[in-house]
Amino acid sequence: MSEKKLKFNSKTIHGGQKPDSAYGAVMPPIYQTSTYAQTTPGGHKGYAYSRSANPTRKALEQSLASIENGNFGMAFASGMAAIDAVIKLLNPGDEVLSTDDLYGGSYRLFKQIFERLGITFRFIGMQNADSIEAHITENTKLIWVETPTNPMMNILDIKAISQLAKKHEVLVAVDNTFATPYLQLPLDLGADIVMHSATKYLGGHSDVVVGALVVNDIELADKLYFIQNASGAVCGPMDSFLTLRGIKTLHVRMQRHCENGRAIAEYLAKHPKIEKVYWPGFEDHPNHEIAKNQMKDFGGMISFIPKGSGYEDAIKIVEKLQLFTLAESLGGVESLAGHPASMTHGSIPNEEREKSGVVDALIRLSVGIEDEVDLIADLEQAIE
Ligand SMILES: Cc1ncc(COP(=O)(O)O)c(C=O)c1O
Repeated sequence: MSEKKLKFNSKTIHGGQKPDSAYGAVMPPIYQTSTYAQTTPGGHKGYAYSRSANPTRKALEQSLASIENGNFGMAFASGMAAIDAVIKLLNPGDEVLSTDDLYGGSYRLFKQIFERLGITFRFIGMQNADSIEAHITENTKLIWVETPTNPMMNILDIKAISQLAKKHEVLVAVDNTFATPYLQLPLDLGADIVMHSATKYLGGHSDVVVGALVVNDIELADKLYFIQNASGAVCGPMDSFLTLRGIKTLHVRMQRHCENGRAIAEYLAKHPKIEKVYWPGFEDHPNHEIAKNQMKDFGGMISFIPKGSGYEDAIKIVEKLQLFTLAESLGGVESLAGHPASMTHGSIPNEEREKSGVVDALIRLSVGIEDEVDLIADLEQAIE
């Protein structure tokens, strides 16, 4: 059966995978080698040095391309390394438009590394796609999108943004970390590049730090493969193996993340001590209709603000949680809680951070796949 025709659940397991050519191993062996024997200079079996290519990484890269419905996948040492490779497509003088509420590490890379090298970044509200056009200049070369955004759960219209960008010959890259291809397929919606912190839902078990890019266009793929090899921030064989193993259960994990996410969002929304819950599944979420169109469900990421609380109260709640672990990161099978203002978004200046809604009292939950009643009981005792 042609692989492109497979449905998503089959792709997570079989996409881009063949039994290993040496002994027929069904799971790709962990090719823990830096180099490969050659019979004569250049006489090798497709692999010369593991920074350029490694069979275990290749298996992961083919899986990534398959699940994102793209042609070419690349695996990096971290999500940040993947973003770094995308920005290296640009030149001094070029400009990037990005959302005003995005992962703090992306903001830090843009502002503190690449702005120094002559690339300009402008952060604007993108919830209304029509408002973006006025910001595009002749120097704009890339629109960097995150949806749902981290941590405010804003929804951006990937299709509308991609159409607009095409008109101006601007590339669109989508950080698909929060949604995963189970929920949305940015390339199908017209984006040029999909990026992942595969550390999160793709790996799914909080045991790797890995990044990913997937594209359709061969010229763009060649440029990114060149940067991947030239800069060298590649994903190692062991991490490739673990991420590939994680992807094989992505669809079943995501289904449960979404079910538990809904239960907890609804519980928090009804709680008398909770002021505001950010989750795109609510009908009164500003871009709920767009979320309904471009996503299959609404995911397991939720942010909320306890009533009348400030920094200290929010800290007290996250400290009291027992089943939810207070930790950086998200997307693992276990539930995590975070305090964006002091953790994931600590590198964004206070004024900028608060303007986008990331106030001191905001708490972010990555809802895992435990029993929903246990998760709710834990929140109940912590909020009390
Ligand atoms: C939305 C998003 N993008 C990118 C990253 C960076 O990925 P990594 O930590 O794998 O480098 C993160 C990490 O938290 C993230 O949440």
